Amino acid sequence: MQRARRDSVKRERERELSPVATRKPLKKKARTESFDRTGNHDRSENLGKAEDFDFAWVGDMATETLTEKNPSFVLQEVHKVSYEDRPVPQFKDPENDVIVKVGWTGICGSDVHYWSHGRIGSFVLEKPMVLGHESSGTIVKVGSKVTSVKEGDRVAMEPGVPCRRCKPCKIGQYNLCPYVEFASTPPYDGTLARYYNIPADFCYKLPDHVSLEEGALVEPTAVAVHITKQGDVKPGNSVVVFGAGPVGLLCAGVAKAYGATNIVMVDIVESKLKFAQEFLGGCEIYIPDTSKTPAESAQALKRKCQNIPETGADVAIDASGAASSTQTAIHVLRRGGTFVQGGMGRDEINFPIMAVCANEITVKGSFRYGQGDYELAVGLISRGQLNVKSMISKKVKFEEAEQAFKEVKEGKVVKVLIEGPRD
Ligand SMILES: NC(=O)c1ccc[n+]([C@@H]2O[C@H](COP(=O)([O-])OP(=O)(O)OC[C@H]3O[C@@H](n4cnc5c(N)ncnc54)[C@H](O)[C@@H]3O)[C@@H](O)[C@H]2O)c1
Ligand SMILES: [Zn+2]
Ligand SMILES: [Zn+2]
Repeated sequence: MQRARRDSVKRERERELSPVATRKPLKKKARTESFDRTGNHDRSENLGKAEDFDFAWVGDMATETLTEKNPSFVLQEVHKVSYEDRPVPQFKDPENDVIVKVGWTGICGSDVHYWSHGRIGSFVLEKPMVLGHESSGTIVKVGSKVTSVKEGDRVAMEPGVPCRRCKPCKIGQYNLCPYVEFASTPPYDGTLARYYNIPADFCYKLPDHVSLEEGALVEPTAVAVHITKQGDVKPGNSVVVFGAGPVGLLCAGVAKAYGATNIVMVDIVESKLKFAQEFLGGCEIYIPDTSKTPAESAQALKRKCQNIPETGADVAIDASGAASSTQTAIHVLRRGGTFVQGGMGRDEINFPIMAVCANEITVKGSFRYGQGDYELAVGLISRGQLNVKSMISKKVKFEEAEQAFKEVKEGKVVKVLIEGPRD
């Protein structure tokens, strides 16, 4: 067992055995669902302990009693979802965790992928899992040592909690922690529920003028912040972004906020590019000719787009996951330019390694978000530098989640938000 999980299981056990119980059972109630979660050393394990009781927190904890039901949107298996009443979560770490009442959740391509394929790479759905990880909400309970947030605060939730002990964690690259527990990545339950337990330092307060709906868009914005940081975008740079889905749009928006003056968006769907122009308040667009080789396509792009010098762009970002985008991006760069792979498509592709070598191209990956990315994402939204509201195509009630997944899969929307279950 990984050490972090072993420690947390130990802490949980010590807490249970403690003579001064912080949790007080009130009355027995019928089990609401039938999963056997025993033996799982993950976040969902902690849910199981409360399932036979209604409970309230006493002592130095908050005294408010949570609504006893915790409706959750659960992926049972490929294309099979259910609405379940899962146990109300308890603190995993009673000192440093908070419980958030979920406000809004954006549907991410990865949630749709688990719904339609049951796996992404080595992450395989082996037991039912609550979907969702792009969420905002309101804090309803705080652990005994939490000072950074309080009950009633509106927050964006960062959904991946690292171990804090491994080398990547200790050198400040916690997004690369191999032990991260990431919401709605098997086996960890996601946020499409009424309540969610999370460490307080993974909650980011939203300023009063930022809505909970915008708060749900902090997650994809943080993805874009990280990608654009990896690209080392500087004032005056020319940047080509491949893929005008939410991530690509936000990368272009963040690049603009970082001072990039010449931006080109590339997509194979014209309507996506039209939206990109509205979202960014103007940008050049390019639809690749799929009959051309990547090198020819890059030449054509440079010829057509006035924003890109003939010598090539400073930075190119893939946010499409298409192999041809990655290949074209390398050829579109100036000598000494930087490419960032943000899209996740095929595991392996042909790669123009000679162009990378001869032109001293810097090639970087980008995975989720790390130190400072969430803060910066909230800041960009709150200062009005990214109009994420305009990306919301539709808002639906919790009970309409399944239909919303179908619409996202059809690809005709930018972002769909699901409301947290109403009382
Ligand atoms: N690196 C990370 O941490 C991270 C996090 C979230 C998402 N992602 C990945 O980022 C990518 C974008 O995410 P999204 O939510 O915006 O997805 P999306 O599917 O909504 O957007 C992808 C866009 O790429 C376009 N596209 C497809 N083929 C293309 C091609 N050959 N050339 C140009 N454009 C093409 C599509 O039309 C679409 O508009 C996905 O691959 C996703 O898996 C990565
Ligand atoms: Zn996501
Ligand atoms: Zn770690």
